[in-house]
Amino acid sequence: MAKKIHLLPPQLANQIAAGEVVERPGSVVKELLENSIDANAKRIQVDIENGGVKLMRIRDDGDGIGKDDLALALSRHATSKIYELTDLTAIGSLGFRGEALASIASVSRLNLTSCLQGESRAWCATLHGRDMSVNIEPASHPQGTTVEVRDLFFNTPARRKFLRTERTEFFHIEEIVKRIALSRFDIGFMLRHNQKIMFNLRVAEDDGAKDKRVASLCGSQFIKNCERVEFNAVGLRLWGWLGNPEIARSQNDLQYFYVNGRVVRDKLLNHAIRQAYQDHLYDGKHACYVLFLECCPETVDVNVHPTKHEVRFHESRLVHDFVFSQLQRALTNAHVSTLATVEIDAEPEVMGSEQPRNTVAPRTPQTRPSATAVREQLAGYRQMTSPAKQTQQAFIPTTNSDPRQLPLGRVLGLVLENTIVCESEGGLVLVDYHHAQRCVIAQQLLQAWQGEAIPSQPLLFPASIQCSGETLALFNKAKDEFVKVGLSFDQMGPTMLMVREAPAPLRKLDFAATFEALSVSLLTQDDFKKTLQVLAVHGADVAVKQQDRESLNRCLRQCEQLSKEVQPKPWIVLDKARLKELVT
Ligand SMILES: Nc1ncnc2c1ncn2[C@@H]1O[C@H](COP(=O)(O)OP(=O)(O)OP(=O)(O)O)[C@@H](O)[C@H]1O
Ligand SMILES: [Mg+2]
Repeated sequence: MAKKIHLLPPQLANQIAAGEVVERPGSVVKELLENSIDANAKRIQVDIENGGVKLMRIRDDGDGIGKDDLALALSRHATSKIYELTDLTAIGSLGFRGEALASIASVSRLNLTSCLQGESRAWCATLHGRDMSVNIEPASHPQGTTVEVRDLFFNTPARRKFLRTERTEFFHIEEIVKRIALSRFDIGFMLRHNQKIMFNLRVAEDDGAKDKRVASLCGSQFIKNCERVEFNAVGLRLWGWLGNPEIARSQNDLQYFYVNGRVVRDKLLNHAIRQAYQDHLYDGKHACYVLFLECCPETVDVNVHPTKHEVRFHESRLVHDFVFSQLQRALTNAHVSTLATVEIDAEPEVMGSEQPRNTVAPRTPQTRPSATAVREQLAGYRQMTSPAKQTQQAFIPTTNSDPRQLPLGRVLGLVLENTIVCESEGGLVLVDYHHAQRCVIAQQLLQAWQGEAIPSQPLLFPASIQCSGETLALFNKAKDEFVKVGLSFDQMGPTMLMVREAPAPLRKLDFAATFEALSVSLLTQDDFKKTLQVLAVHGADVAVKQQDRESLNRCLRQCEQLSKEVQPKPWIVLDKARLKELVT
């Protein structure tokens, strides 16, 4: 027979919800600290007794809660932070679910004392029984709020059994307070355990004070061996302290990452950071960092899990590649400059404003971490900074003479989408723009492959490419050939490649489409020159999008340098006699 359906008593319903949010004393402290931050506190005091099992008291000087709102604050699905569904799409506060206090209250003895800004009277709320009825009494409290949580899990013995020693539980609490204290330099934090002050951090206004806070929470070793970084691009800001590889640790216990001020543990971001460090860390060591990513709240979803430790970015690939490329560059530059005392331009680049720098990148294929990696980078950057290479203007002859005296003359315009019309002393020249670019790029690649240098540099956003295991094997086999033409990639997993570096004509390729075409060529052609032709076609697809007069003229000058072997040439000349014949 079917059992009767009934509503759960509020306490039981809240206890079930608490299962997800209140895992241990540390999670209570996290929720209460977040509430104080959301209430604009400037100073927060945390008192813990017996690892939090006996007492956790969080006191703040924030906005406070009015008498009429106290009962609501303790009931489930009650919040002052969002009003409607659309608010969920751009959350500016740390809390928004309206269930933390109710959940904590259902598995502990909780009281909430608060004095609203501008009021002279404070009130204290306590909860009783299975229906969680609220009792409110006058209290004495300065402006702000104190939440006291005693005897956590006293009424849920199954949960209580999972609590560890006082020391371990306090360790978790301390870690949570540290994490949050690192995220808000504008708030003072004090943590006490069994009446002993563990730390007392004042508001940190300037850079020096911020460094001091980082030093007291992460250790002086960290602050002495890190770089302060800041990057802004594509609507994202990444800043913070990046630990030098020399202080990498055997555990991942000095890794702090925040998204819009929220502590997150996110696989995507972890992956990007790990990858950025991959050429610098050995023996399974873990990087150290305190980093903050700021983005428009509309572009990130924080309502992924009740603990809000996970986030989901609308443009996850962009965020991943931004974090990876900026950190990788910062690490490489920092490392090389300390070793060789050479100055390397560490300016963050903005997407879309990339200018191919006339630099020659190291010709060694990118390798997995190895003891020689740093030496190789150093050699590469020395090459980059050597004056001989810097002045190398590959394939672009300069001329001051009247361009009409040159074989292909000067550009009159681009017609029929793809045909450059030129005027020379001899007559009229028609150039197939796409074909011309293809020939020019193919020749550049061929010369590079045969041993001439081609300027190449790391991509601002390395491109990840999904492919099958077989395709990956093909690319790995031909990797050294691609490196010769300035195109470097690494295997990132069983089915992924990461293109890291490309020469100027190939920097803006659609890498996914190009690599698909390249894989077909590698599979069907034995001659690598044929594969270079495929690269050239894709390079030309991008090049022909540049239709300003300067680009068209440059293409003409490059065509004039094409070797005799390039046949048929991508142009026809209509000399004066021929033109006359045609029009009369
Ligand atoms: N320290 C505090 N100072 C002022 N108001 C507070 C404080 N703590 C809680 N509140 C009020 O009580 C409400 C309920 O808090 P609770 O933590 O349960 O939910 P929330 O913060 O809105 O959402 P979440 O469940 O995601 O934390 C808050 O929305 C806020 O209005
Ligand atoms: Mg909350």
